[in-house]
Amino acid sequence: MEREKLSSRLGFILLSAGCAIGLGNVWRFPYITGEYGGASFVLMYLVFLLLIGVPVMTMEFAIGRGGKVNIVGAYRRLEPEGSKWHIAGPFAIIGNYLLLFYYLPITGWLLYYFGTHMSGSFIGAGTAQVSQFYATMLSRPGLQIIMMAIALAITASVTFFGLAKGVERVTKVMMLMLFLLMIILAVHSVTLDGAHEGLMFYIKPNLENLTNNSSEAIFAAMGQAFFTLSLGIGAMAIMGSYFNESRSLTGETGRIIVLDTTVALLSGFIIFPACSAFGIEADSGPSLLFITLPNVFSKMAGGSFWGSLFFLAMSFAAITTLITVFENIVSYWIDIRKMPRKKAIVLNIIIFLVGTLPCIFGFNIWSDFHPLGGSSAIMDLEDFMVSNLLLPLGSLVMILFCTSRYGWGWKNFVNEADKGEGFKFPKKLRFYVAYILPLIILYVTIRGIWNIFA
Ligand code: ALA
Repeated sequence: MEREKLSSRLGFILLSAGCAIGLGNVWRFPYITGEYGGASFVLMYLVFLLLIGVPVMTMEFAIGRGGKVNIVGAYRRLEPEGSKWHIAGPFAIIGNYLLLFYYLPITGWLLYYFGTHMSGSFIGAGTAQVSQFYATMLSRPGLQIIMMAIALAITASVTFFGLAKGVERVTKVMMLMLFLLMIILAVHSVTLDGAHEGLMFYIKPNLENLTNNSSEAIFAAMGQAFFTLSLGIGAMAIMGSYFNESRSLTGETGRIIVLDTTVALLSGFIIFPACSAFGIEADSGPSLLFITLPNVFSKMAGGSFWGSLFFLAMSFAAITTLITVFENIVSYWIDIRKMPRKKAIVLNIIIFLVGTLPCIFGFNIWSDFHPLGGSSAIMDLEDFMVSNLLLPLGSLVMILFCTSRYGWGWKNFVNEADKGEGFKFPKKLRFYVAYILPLIILYVTIRGIWNIFA
């Protein structure tokens, strides 16, 4: 059977952007920006996107396009005979599963908040009521399972129709709607009375903020660069494997990162001005999306409308990531295990119905279990394993694979990346990419582990 391909270049860019743009942009980015001091943090994050994001993403696409198969098969096909690079493949697939084990429940929360805003239930609610609403949602495993199952049903039904007819078509529409909604919401936010202060916090770098907690902030900015681009687990490689050779990969990477960054920056333009307009602190950590913002919308004129629109946009962002990562998982079963698409989808629905339970139970029946100490939940452990271990270490293996003569090697990588029209990979970066970048990533990883356990 002939392997499926994307129908267009736009499809490749929007699908890869759909995989990158998700909770990392609309949720994680604004709250860590709030925590680490606003504009000065944003600046640092942009630097890391350039230093780490561009080379690693280009390499991941090249491995995918060179291998023309899922990451597990790509290592096997491209590695020198007798070498052991393919051992990294299954770890990448495990990363996809672990990511969705908590991404699906959070998407369920977003859908629930979307419905609740639509029904107008938040009108006039204060902080205490919104906090109570959030706590009640977390305490109800049945409710969370139902909402997660809705997110899973949407995801699986899109992939059911195949790559071009399902994944590509739906993701393209959702991405365009997402951009439109984000622009409308940002314009509305920055034109609110009292938006100025929040806007300044967000766009005017304050060096004092930066130096107060600089080492932690640097680490957070690097981690965010990996997470937001879904690097190192083969989710981008699969897009490369579906792409033709008409365009060079470095240029396409640049476009995808610009789209990803635009959505992250837009979500800041929505959140910070709106918070300051209603005198609410935005540096409130993960609860930003589920407590702080509903509180802001409840006070806003037309709050149910704006709140619904906002949570609809968030849901689109999350669902495009779910669809593309799920597609990567399904492609593993199709490419490597030779399973028909439909059978692979049914099998994975079952795996996810069971695999998401620990995350959900971690907020209620297993809430006494704190795997990382403090008040951490099972979700934090899953996020730690993905964001701090599997993404950076997976990226590290890809870099070594593309630069070492014992791997696929520099020449093969550059040949693949430069095929087609467009910007070519800068050869002068070889030393940086082969020797300095691995050290940076190793440092990030060790620091991340240290931060958790120290
Ligand atoms: N890249 C995905 C996100 O940002 C995981 O949500």
